Amino acid sequence: MTNWSSHYARRAARMESAEVRDLLAVFARKDITSFAGGIPDPSLFPTEAIAAAYAAVLADPKRAAAALQYSVPEGHPSLRRWLAADMTARGTPCAPENVLVTNGSQQALDTIGKLFISERETVLVSAPTFLGAVQAFNAYEPRFDELPGPESNRTPDSFRGPGGARPKFGYVMPEFENPTGRTLTRAERLRLLDFAETLDIPLVEDSPYETLRYSGQAVPLLLTLAAARAGGIDACRVLHCGTFSKSIVPGLRVGWVIGPRAVIERLMLAKQAADIQTSTINQMVLADIAGAMVPAQAEKVRPIYRARRDAMLAALRAHMPPGVTWTEPEGGFFIWVALPDHIDTSALLKRAVDEARVAYVPGSAFFAGGGGRNMLRLSFSVTNETEIAEGMSRLAALIRTE
Ligand SMILES: Cc1ncc(COP(=O)(O)O)c(C=O)c1O
Repeated sequence: MTNWSSHYARRAARMESAEVRDLLAVFARKDITSFAGGIPDPSLFPTEAIAAAYAAVLADPKRAAAALQYSVPEGHPSLRRWLAADMTARGTPCAPENVLVTNGSQQALDTIGKLFISERETVLVSAPTFLGAVQAFNAYEPRFDELPGPESNRTPDSFRGPGGARPKFGYVMPEFENPTGRTLTRAERLRLLDFAETLDIPLVEDSPYETLRYSGQAVPLLLTLAAARAGGIDACRVLHCGTFSKSIVPGLRVGWVIGPRAVIERLMLAKQAADIQTSTINQMVLADIAGAMVPAQAEKVRPIYRARRDAMLAALRAHMPPGVTWTEPEGGFFIWVALPDHIDTSALLKRAVDEARVAYVPGSAFFAGGGGRNMLRLSFSVTNETEIAEGMSRLAALIRTE
């Protein structure tokens, strides 16, 4: 038998993720109430309207020929135009040349990693942060350091690497962060921009949950604040990653990066080497339907997800013992729970699944540099209010025995 591991590049050592593999097995079990997966509820998908949009493209011989053909790596012109117009309408003047269409925002993160990170260079992330971003960046063998939070007293220079090297970028999710559900205030966003300016580093704004706000006031995007300060997108230091995964459906795998056109051109070359382009037909269909469907889906799903969030918060308040704390998200899919220090949520997961028939993601999965042992992420996106009330009551009863 070939010892395949001995043949792999060094970076492969950072591609292990036993925790996630175990979780995928749990998702598949029908008897489990899963608060683990951060996925949209498939019963809310606009399937018929999507089917009709594909049928319309394929029924027109000229459009069908284009839709089934190769297209350009930067993104189908119709979709690039739509994304630029949408960003402009939301208050940040944007040209199609500022947009790169990607295979979901996950590919945007990977492509940014590929363009910016060399081995042992520093990437700044929040702690906890999005597991998928750590996985994407890990292939380029960075070291991770923590972005300064509100209470940080670190000097900007303390973020520099050997020889005074600047970090390569800071990665943030200002809206309904995965996994904490937190939203950065306007003041926090401005402070982050100040910090990035002081160190002269780019910021990557990952914003997949933007359309899923259930309460509170919208805050301008980091891109919007940065472009307003700098005098336009081309002069700013923010790369904004978006996606149709949560605003329409994830299965079409269409996302984007919006940023200064000089960077977009280089990201385009890196993406082209990976997969030539994002599916032509998927982009054409989305360009046809996004204008009407993004707001319609938001109207449809927001009250449903809001009720689920409220049910989960109510269950936490009703059942959790003293010493347990949690976030109160204004949108997105996630609530972040801190248990008393002595509880190890990775060890507890087995009992949660076997005894309480509930799954969650242990907190340690979200820390690039260790931590989160007593924390866990709950998602309320695919369970109804009854399942939430019953599942949370069982989980809280289990926690009370610890
Ligand atoms: C914060 C964050 N970024 C990116 C992604 C990837 O999304 P996409 O489906 O657009 O690749 C997710 C998916 O859950 C996410 O939570």
